[in-house]
Amino acid sequence: MKTLKHLFEKNLQWATAIKEKQPDFFKELSKQQAPEYLWIGCSDSRVPANQIIDLPPGEVFVHRNIANVVVHSDLNCLSVVQFAVEVLKVKHIIICGHYGCGGIKAAMSDDDHGLIDNWLRHIKDVERFNKDKFIGIEEEDKFDLLCELNVKEQVTNICNTTVVQKAWKSGSNLSVHGWIYNIENGILKDLETCISPND
Ligand code: CO
Repeated sequence: MKTLKHLFEKNLQWATAIKEKQPDFFKELSKQQAPEYLWIGCSDSRVPANQIIDLPPGEVFVHRNIANVVVHSDLNCLSVVQFAVEVLKVKHIIICGHYGCGGIKAAMSDDDHGLIDNWLRHIKDVERFNKDKFIGIEEEDKFDLLCELNVKEQVTNICNTTVVQKAWKSGSNLSVHGWIYNIENGILKDLETCISPND
């Protein structure tokens, strides 16, 4: 039986190191969670939410899927958003895409990827909605552009969900942000698409 022993060893070291600095860290955190942020990002292993923004457990509520897509009929994503907004009362929703996204790249090709092509249709839609923006763009820049446009589209999508609309109608100060992460240097960029009821 393979028990992935090394991962349990790493876990023990990690928990011990935290407890050495803050003996009550886990005890206190076990009583409640009160994150200010909902992170919707890509499943890519190189884009781990908490580590990128250097926040400990308890600070970020996270939903990840291939190419950080918000689909109006995706009950998984919508349930996360509802719980984050209505129960945890997060103050910010961050849609974080990344350059070099394999999902975006796959969506740009006509190759057969099997089941996932159904999911990637959402990215192909983003490309189609923004057709004009690709005119005159160098081939190698089109990939980066679609990664950015996808974030902006998902910002629009999340703003249009019943959950976010209801929150704003009831006076919530909830903000929605569109960010992109560079896997080549570890740096985040704000795409300046922040939407909040005070704008
Ligand atoms: Co990705």
